[in-house]
Amino acid sequence: MLTNLRSILSEAYSQKYAVGSFNGYNSETFRGIIEAGKETNTPIILAFGAKYLKNMSLDTAAAIVKSIASDIDIPVCLHLDHCSDMNIIFQAIKAGFGSVMYDGSMLPYEENLKNTKMVCEVAHACNVSVEAELGSIAAGERSHEGSADDKEVYTNPALAKEFVEETKVDALAVSVGTVHGLYKGKPNIRIDILKEINEQVGIPLVLHGGSGIPEEDILNCIANGIAKINVNTEIATYAVEETTKYLQNEQPHFSVLSLKQEEYVKEIVKKYITFFGK
Ligand code: 13P
Repeated sequence: MLTNLRSILSEAYSQKYAVGSFNGYNSETFRGIIEAGKETNTPIILAFGAKYLKNMSLDTAAAIVKSIASDIDIPVCLHLDHCSDMNIIFQAIKAGFGSVMYDGSMLPYEENLKNTKMVCEVAHACNVSVEAELGSIAAGERSHEGSADDKEVYTNPALAKEFVEETKVDALAVSVGTVHGLYKGKPNIRIDILKEINEQVGIPLVLHGGSGIPEEDILNCIANGIAKINVNTEIATYAVEETTKYLQNEQPHFSVLSLKQEEYVKEIVKKYITFFGK
């Protein structure tokens, strides 16, 4: 069943578990991610990044996800990941996405606040949820989303409180030491800052850069308000590595390869689902 982000995250936040938000950009990733949710009986957030509009249009992404998810029992939210372009945000709402992330984290605070507020007014009138970001996260190794210029700026808890109250955003992405991509060493996650943000805002918080975070850090983050964890790099890396191994021994029909890739995506997504624990 298709739903919006707010309905999935309000239960996760109050019951202290996190829902995985997994990036998809083709039929193999969409199907693999949703199958993982079905097999584990877990809600799924399917994130389609504005970055992947070269792979498919918003209307195509919405049509595929609607056709796969409409007659299954688990809640599925189709979410627009990282988007700073208002036109794309409004097109996604029109296409039937259940949630959009307006990412104004690179803008001056006042501008981010003004734009996020406007997105919330439009999206909420259409029963679509909104995630926004305050502070900004850096890029690690093999990041497909971040760039080397991305600077780490921790989220300021007092500003976060004001931002959430003014914008009425449904979920807030925070910067507390995670990076997009793979970590060079052990991540240094600032649970102290996260705890303070959570005490100030009282709404579901989002952790970007979920690939490769150790389990104990994940659990600590969930205990301190993180209700949505985004994973992209490790899904793509695992699927490519497994595909490469498979092709060393086989020369399959293209259609068979596609089914294999769906399996690889499902395997790695299930690993993260188990990690995040419902
Ligand atoms: P990773 O690529 O580090 O898993 O981060 C994904 C993400 O934050 C998507 O918005």
